[in-house]
Amino acid sequence: MEKNISVGLLGLGTVGSGVVQIVEGHQEELVHQLGCGVTIKSILVCDVEKDRDVQVNPATLTTNPEAVLADPEIDIIIEVMGGIDEAREHILRAFKAKKHVVTANKDLMALHGPELQYAAKQNGCDLFYEASVAGGIPIIGGIVDGLASDRIEKVMGIVNGTTNYILTKMDDEGVAYEDALKEAQELGFAEADPTGDVGGLDAARKMAILARLAFSTSVDLADVEVDGIDGLALEDLQFGRQLGLKMKLIGFADFQDKQIEVSVQPTFLPENHPLAAVKNEYNAVYVNGKAVGETMFYGPGAGSLPTATAVMSDVTAVIKNMLLGVTGQQVVTPRYDKVLKSPEQRFGQYYFRIHVQDRSGTFTEISSLFNELDISFERILQDPIKNDKENGLAEVIVVTHQTTLEKINQALEKLAKVDVVEEVKSYFRIEGGYDQ
Ligand SMILES: NC(=O)c1ccc[n+]([C@@H]2O[C@H](COP(=O)([O-])OP(=O)(O)OC[C@H]3O[C@@H](n4cnc5c(N)ncnc54)[C@H](OP(=O)(O)O)[C@@H]3O)[C@@H](O)[C@H]2O)c1
Repeated sequence: MEKNISVGLLGLGTVGSGVVQIVEGHQEELVHQLGCGVTIKSILVCDVEKDRDVQVNPATLTTNPEAVLADPEIDIIIEVMGGIDEAREHILRAFKAKKHVVTANKDLMALHGPELQYAAKQNGCDLFYEASVAGGIPIIGGIVDGLASDRIEKVMGIVNGTTNYILTKMDDEGVAYEDALKEAQELGFAEADPTGDVGGLDAARKMAILARLAFSTSVDLADVEVDGIDGLALEDLQFGRQLGLKMKLIGFADFQDKQIEVSVQPTFLPENHPLAAVKNEYNAVYVNGKAVGETMFYGPGAGSLPTATAVMSDVTAVIKNMLLGVTGQQVVTPRYDKVLKSPEQRFGQYYFRIHVQDRSGTFTEISSLFNELDISFERILQDPIKNDKENGLAEVIVVTHQTTLEKINQALEKLAKVDVVEEVKSYFRIEGGYDQ
């Protein structure tokens, strides 16, 4: 066996710097695991003159992708530059040159994952992407290897640290959404443009990747129903607390009778649910398997060293495959055709906050509207009712029993037409067995 495996790094930012630190600082562990060392031979960056968080030999830095991708001594490309089109082209180019690829790029894998996996296989190469979902948590390995023989029925997770940080601030300290976002930005947990995080797209990309792997079916980003936390009202979190519920941005993927649903939306969980205890920027993914039952994976969902740890675990997996001569063996063909559940097949409990006219008969009218649709109530919160004397309005919180999304949509249509209803201020799904 060679004394060293040479890798090429595309990117030397947050994650790339962590990779350099692990390769330099954990060489003994790598040699012990692999029987050979790992050397970073060249690094693609935008600006070779830039000050860096880590010290690297300046001669390894380049702005020319070919210097990395066409180097015959490099066996593995680590893509941590981000972006979509250029990263995709570099990875395809790497496969043509018979180089294996490890990437942390969820945006790319959510959009072009199947194409890239197919290209890897065609060229006898490995493509691993553990760091693309939930940073340092080995969730992809947990699903693909750890639960390989099981039938996974549900994946439910907090897969975006920024939104979890904001929700924790709102819930624990009663801080309004805008202030919590500002604080997250000041602390570096949220980007200057937070749209991708707070709008739910980042989490949706990760859920598309997880659902594909967990259920062995093709899931596109467009199949994920997305709703973010932007503009979430503090009142809902406070009413949730009175009901014993915690609000989280939950990625939800369910597979029953070979039909799937995948969504990302603010969701209430019972306060004693394991995911409800996940605070600040931490991530956690809850996986239900037919045989294993309930499992939960918890840890840092981002950051330089945690994410680089996931990248380097993929690098060691590639090297082990190289040593055994079994690269390019990943399963790329989904087992099941994709069938999305229709609204009448999607079950859940729901919370409604409704502004109503504060006069007699209102409750009866609301109750009969739900009754007509065969939606029964778990609870109606009347204390405290926030009376708006000026406009003669009152606030009602309704928690339903399990029902279908189809019926919830019908209820929303009917509520919009009833005189006593001023406005449905919000409604959220409740998951995690609140009614059990
Ligand atoms: N940050 C995290 O915690 C985290 C967690 C999980 C996954 N990820 C994923 O990991 C990837 C990298 O994230 P990051 O936070 O490390 O990004 P980053 O800090 O912005 O670093 C990007 C690096 O790539 C280089 N680069 C970007 N575009 C390039 C181009 N066109 N040509 C040459 N070099 C280019 C930059 O060069 P310069 O330094 O010269 O500007 C920089 O070194 C992304 O796909 C991200 O989604 C990140």
